[in-house]
Amino acid sequence: MPTFDDPNIILGYEALGDAGVYVLDERRALVQTVDVLTPIADDPYVFGQIAAANSLSDVYAMGARPLTALNVVGFPTKLDLSILEKLIKGSIEKVKEAGAVIIGGHTIKDQELKYGLAVTGIVDRDKIVSTTGARPGDGLVLTKPLGTGIVSTALKAGRASPQTVKEINALMTQLNHSASQCMLEVGVNACTDITGFGLLGHLLQMLMASNVGARILVEEVPLVSRALEYARAGLVPGGTKKNFEYVQPYTKVLNKIDPVLHTLLCDAQTSGGLLMAVTEEKAGDLVDLLHRHDILSARLIGHVIASKSPSIELK
Ligand code: CO
Ligand code: CO
Repeated sequence: MPTFDDPNIILGYEALGDAGVYVLDERRALVQTVDVLTPIADDPYVFGQIAAANSLSDVYAMGARPLTALNVVGFPTKLDLSILEKLIKGSIEKVKEAGAVIIGGHTIKDQELKYGLAVTGIVDRDKIVSTTGARPGDGLVLTKPLGTGIVSTALKAGRASPQTVKEINALMTQLNHSASQCMLEVGVNACTDITGFGLLGHLLQMLMASNVGARILVEEVPLVSRALEYARAGLVPGGTKKNFEYVQPYTKVLNKIDPVLHTLLCDAQTSGGLLMAVTEEKAGDLVDLLHRHDILSARLIGHVIASKSPSIELK
């Protein structure tokens, strides 16, 4: 694709970043992102909350503060308008929690319901966190457990327990706001958020951008309860299988690993956690601070290692 050669572009669409970044003035930059989802929860209010948290996440991953958002809606004429009302109300709740505002949007007729936000944030240019800064020796900290894709697939098949569905809804509606605040307080080298490409897919993008490798301590990776059980029963979304194939050529398995657990590491997430690369000295402080902010799943899951080409070791 042709690129734009505007010197104000700090991060353009061709970069492996979470959002576009554009110079605003000497001190600050705009951070812009858009994400749209098809329904992932039965309750439209909850779906609105999840879609908003998911769209805001890329702004948080860059260490920025969300300012404004626009609704992006695809709506089937056969559906009752009260569904749209509940959906937008759920989204508004989350955008308010983020301290941002919705100031407009656009709706088109669509075969299938779709919803998301285009979000604009602001960041001090010297505080931008991107995927490029991971260095050998850094600890890798993940803030939310994996498995929302697999549990959602189990839900669609009518096989997920209500308790597990409650658990993933609580995770997916949780803003990455506090996690981002903790990250800024401690200071990290790189960050990305875990969404459609799964942990290993997004990790690989960070490794490519930073020109390093990583070793993941598989036993340390936090998982949604029963996600392993559902994955073992074959309730694995297509996106997760594609992610597995995408990262396969870059992955080296050091110890024997349960193939189902390996699949879970690739599970496509919606509104997943932040993955941060932080110097080894600060890694413990970061995890402690996240725990004190009630992000109890936060865990050190591995390390960045020197590597001639991007590679992931599973140990
Ligand atoms: Co992202
Ligand atoms: Co995104």
